[in-house]
Amino acid sequence: MPELPEIGGRRIDLGVEGELPPGAEPKVHDARADLPDQELDRSLRPPTLADFVNQTQVTDQLAVFIEAARGRGEPLDHVLLAGPPGLGKTSLANIVAAEMGVGLVQTAGPALERKGDVAAFLTSLEPGSVFFIDEIHRLGRAVEETLYPAMEDGELPVVLGQGAGAQTVTLPLPPFTLIGATTRSGLLTTPLRDRFGVSHRLEYYSPKDLGRIVLRSAEILGVEIDDAGAEAIAERSRGTPRVANRLLKRVRDFAEVKGSGAVDAGVAGAALEMLEVDQAGLDRSDRALLELIATKFGGGPVGLSTISVAIGEEPDTIEDVLEPYLLQQGMLKRTPRGRVLTPTAFGHLGLPVPRGGEHLF
Ligand SMILES: Nc1ncnc2c1ncn2[C@@H]1O[C@H](COP(=O)(O)OP(=O)(O)OP(=O)(O)O)[C@@H](O)[C@H]1O
Ligand SMILES: [Mg+2]
Repeated sequence: MPELPEIGGRRIDLGVEGELPPGAEPKVHDARADLPDQELDRSLRPPTLADFVNQTQVTDQLAVFIEAARGRGEPLDHVLLAGPPGLGKTSLANIVAAEMGVGLVQTAGPALERKGDVAAFLTSLEPGSVFFIDEIHRLGRAVEETLYPAMEDGELPVVLGQGAGAQTVTLPLPPFTLIGATTRSGLLTTPLRDRFGVSHRLEYYSPKDLGRIVLRSAEILGVEIDDAGAEAIAERSRGTPRVANRLLKRVRDFAEVKGSGAVDAGVAGAALEMLEVDQAGLDRSDRALLELIATKFGGGPVGLSTISVAIGEEPDTIEDVLEPYLLQQGMLKRTPRGRVLTPTAFGHLGLPVPRGGEHLF
């Protein structure tokens, strides 16, 4: 056995070279192949505004504001990013920090339980950095109120002492940019919303833009794919880059196991069928929701909590993840009396519109 190298007075075992069994090929290790999906997500995240596919109305404006702020040597104004899950809010927050050339500190609404939690973050920020609060609609009242003076005047009021002797002192804060992300902008209070100088809503992506995202991700992942293959995946990705990336990874698995590893329209179609993703991009949970309302509730109206119990999904998941795309596709409607299926949804399920149900639409 070779002598172990010595570093800093300690012998370091670098791993003993073993003999390969006869006939065995030395394994070339492709680090990327073993990365769990989460790691891959990070590597698929677009690093710059130029890599962030389309949503040009958002990226064009942000590019101007960033350039102006940089020119003045000031932090960017506070930014609110709203939109359904997986459309790129977290990616954009990271891009803004990178383009501003500043650091990013990230937390989420539910993690900021007490005023002190926010205070700890705010006072330890590097001047100019981005403070990113995901799920900002889930901030508690007291925490939210702590943010108001911080956002507006760069100040943090701190109460010292208790009872009659209590005193409020104001701590100056380092300048910072708050970026808030939310899937439910409707739940934001007006005072909080008004304190964001820049506010953007991300929309579902067109199949064409999703196709570009699929091609870009395929290149990063080293997947061989043609335009028709990318298009097939893009069309069924419910307008969502995260879904497009996820489907690409699963189609890749399918192509490696059942084919040569290359992805074309045929392979993508077969893989998506196996994954039970239909022509409209709906998966099993989407169809379960539609079928439930169609068959058990005659097309509706039916309340969210009833649906939640019947399909065993949290009301939040139904509202944030499942419904927005079904609403956008014109398959579902929210009415004051509950959720209602549209004729499009009945058509998609291959079911007749219930007789006498026309008044619902
Ligand atoms: N415009 C884009 N161009 C290329 N890839 C994108 C784009 N937007 C999102 N993605 C990809 O989709 C994935 C999900 O995006 P991201 O995590 O930013 O979404 P999100 O809006 O923060 O979602 P959530 O609301 O669930 O937090 C990213 O890892 C990235 O790879
Ligand atoms: Mg996010």
